[in-house]
Amino acid sequence: MDIFSFFGIVIFCYLLTYIVLLSFLDRDLGLAWVEKFGKSIGSLKGQVIWITGASSGIGEAMAVTLAKHGARLVISARREWELERVKGRCLEEGQLNVDDILVLPMDMTDFKAHQECFDQVIDKFGRLDILVNNAGRSQRANWEEIESAVDQDMFNLNVFSVISLTRVVVKYFLEREEGGGHVAVTSSIAGLIGVPFSGSYTGAKHALHGYFDSLRAEKIRNRLTVSILCPGPVLTNFLSESFTSRPGEKYGVAASSSDRRLTADRCSYLCCVALANGLREAWIALPPILPVAYMGRYFPNFTWIIGGYIGSKYLLKLRDSRSTIKGN
Ligand SMILES: NC(=O)c1ccc[n+]([C@@H]2O[C@H](COP(=O)([O-])OP(=O)(O)OC[C@H]3O[C@@H](n4cnc5c(N)ncnc54)[C@H](OP(=O)(O)O)[C@@H]3O)[C@@H](O)[C@H]2O)c1
Repeated sequence: MDIFSFFGIVIFCYLLTYIVLLSFLDRDLGLAWVEKFGKSIGSLKGQVIWITGASSGIGEAMAVTLAKHGARLVISARREWELERVKGRCLEEGQLNVDDILVLPMDMTDFKAHQECFDQVIDKFGRLDILVNNAGRSQRANWEEIESAVDQDMFNLNVFSVISLTRVVVKYFLEREEGGGHVAVTSSIAGLIGVPFSGSYTGAKHALHGYFDSLRAEKIRNRLTVSILCPGPVLTNFLSESFTSRPGEKYGVAASSSDRRLTADRCSYLCCVALANGLREAWIALPPILPVAYMGRYFPNFTWIIGGYIGSKYLLKLRDSRSTIKGN
């Protein structure tokens, strides 16, 4: 056997092992490794962490998980009464005092308020250590029917507001005396590969990877940690809140507990492990989403051929455990 064949076989075995292992896990191997051997979530104790989209779902569950481990919290979203409820849970289930949590209502798309909200965080805690950009909405729509206003609303919420808030925080991280900081964003498996019936959403999540990878590359020597969290289907209000093809409309169909979706608690726990370990990217989903995403990203030609055989309706079913979209 010549040297090229030898290396070819080694690489093939490595990739095969990776794909087979992913078929049994709900997280990528890097995340599984740090979960076992890396820093615990407890290493975030005392840090000031700002979570957007904390009034429900993954953001709420992350707030509670971090409260249990003693991180001080800023929780944001539009619905103040839901944030107060989440604060109550954090106090009840966590190890925090009332003064360790700031409820900071904000509409992410009100760009002008970002600096003012950030100033309130600094007024309260005197510092910020981690920003978790988690607020966002999904979409269900046929690609060709999506009106431009929906693309714009989607990008305003899922991309431009995130970038605007992150810029405010990154300036502070770069200027503060102790130097550096950590920004994270909740992307999606839809930020890694094309998913059907979510054109604007998939575009928006892909855009986040471009922006945040660019930030990481530019500030690679500035002690700035950039984490991109990529969940697959998670059981939250998300599906019902989704954009459709028409502006102002919500999909309105709730995910069912019989769908094969990760719980928000499990997803948020894994997101917090990724945060504690400053992972660049973390993929989180029930099988078989991860091997499909891995194949889609690293073997696109092969994956598109297989996709052509199985069809987009099956791909949607794979994503949601639902075979049709509303109206179909
Ligand atoms: N669930 C999934 O299957 C899944 C999969 C992959 C990625 N994700 C990502 O996970 C993140 C959280 O989603 P989730 O599943 O937890 O859904 P969710 O339960 O619907 O939570 C969405 C959060 O975003 C907030 N939000 C929505 N519009 C906002 C606005 N204009 N300004 C401020 N906050 C706003 C909501 O709060 P208010 O309504 O109170 O403002 C809520 O707290 C999203 O970025 C999503 O893309 C979810």
